[in-house]
Amino acid sequence: MDIIQIIDKKRQGLPHSPEEIRYLVQGAMAGTIPDYQLSAWLMAVCLKGLDLEETTALTQCYVESGQVLDFSEVQGIIVDKHSTGGVGDKTTLILAPLLASCGVNVAKLSGRGLGYTGGTVDKLEAIPQFNVSLPTEQFLCQVNSIGVALCSQTGELAPADGLFYALRDVTATVASIPLIAASVVSKKIAAGAQVITLDIKVGEGAFMKTLDEAKSLALACREVGKRLGRSISTVISRMDQPLGNAIGHTVEVIESIETLKGRGPKDLQDLCLVLGAVALVDAGTVPNLEAGKADLMESITSGRALEKFRALIQAQGGDSQVLDDYSRFPHPQHYIEVKSPASGYIEHCHALKIAQAAKVLGAGRLSKSAPIDLSVGVVVSAKQGDAVQKGQTLATLWANEMGVEEAKKLIQEAYTYSERPPIILPLVEDIFLATEPVTKPSIKACI
Ligand code: URA
Repeated sequence: MDIIQIIDKKRQGLPHSPEEIRYLVQGAMAGTIPDYQLSAWLMAVCLKGLDLEETTALTQCYVESGQVLDFSEVQGIIVDKHSTGGVGDKTTLILAPLLASCGVNVAKLSGRGLGYTGGTVDKLEAIPQFNVSLPTEQFLCQVNSIGVALCSQTGELAPADGLFYALRDVTATVASIPLIAASVVSKKIAAGAQVITLDIKVGEGAFMKTLDEAKSLALACREVGKRLGRSISTVISRMDQPLGNAIGHTVEVIESIETLKGRGPKDLQDLCLVLGAVALVDAGTVPNLEAGKADLMESITSGRALEKFRALIQAQGGDSQVLDDYSRFPHPQHYIEVKSPASGYIEHCHALKIAQAAKVLGAGRLSKSAPIDLSVGVVVSAKQGDAVQKGQTLATLWANEMGVEEAKKLIQEAYTYSERPPIILPLVEDIFLATEPVTKPSIKACI
């Protein structure tokens, strides 16, 4: 086999055999296929695609490139939820304790952010002393004892995906349905979950810009999961404007706590209830989505969800008094209100512009190892469809010295206005419940 022939085959749109895909991934891991040839192949895939068989083979090779977590000693079902990425998406911070408080185990490995804002792990670090790097033994043990653990994804899980993703990030080859499906599904399988709920984002602030693309990605993830022995449910949700009101780290953790106290923004609470109910139905603890939502709401109103978050923070060494005293979080020096220049209805509140504003204030990374400022961010007070008066506050910048003028400009650019109320698309566009029974796959290491 020869890498030039493999690239040429994909350039012509011809399908690969599983052996060719294995050769490619093994060569990438061993360093015998250089980045420029991998990049050429990735671009050929972006232009010509991969069929389901090829996507499954790629996913399997990613999984087999590293460790697969084994939860066989843990009592109960292990649930994992993953989002394809969105501005202000803090659903993991809410759903991990919320689902655990409803009787399922949540073992979640999350990434750091690159690009506009930080990832879940960065957000957790806004909680003073919270340890995001648990050794595998301790991670499994904590899931067994309190039903929830949230920590940083190690390079030991699906390392081939890490290698390919890093190349995709710098060669404009991220937005490919089969490549995203292989990347997402391999990480979920390697992380050992039995119930997998994927939140596929669609819209201006997402990789998938149209509903058709999002549906194709959802289908590819479900099919690849099925072929590798995992039932995957998918929810397609809109990402045209930020989810909730807070974008940053401290601000997003505070908004998550407020949501666990039953005082969160409606869109954020609604999406958490849908994703959580899908996971509960798949785990078999409730018969349908309505019963799942009712269980989750009861857990919020009774305070059980918040107490589970307290247990999680304490188990990972964090300062759980933040739940009652937000002044214990890192706070910035300035709170700057950005005002509306016009009266009317908010036609759009562009997610990417708001994310860029948070980034220039210091909340996002410019490179993988760059530091981020956990105290800064943006809290929007006007969203699509809201009526505003000239001079009314659109958003508040949580800022230190960096990027204030640019952030103000970006916030102004993020908003457009109309004289009449705009048409608002539904937050949740599609729900597909896995129907397959829960099974554990057997995948052996091959690389
Ligand atoms: N999220 C992932 O984990 N991988 C992708 O390829 C895109 C989004």
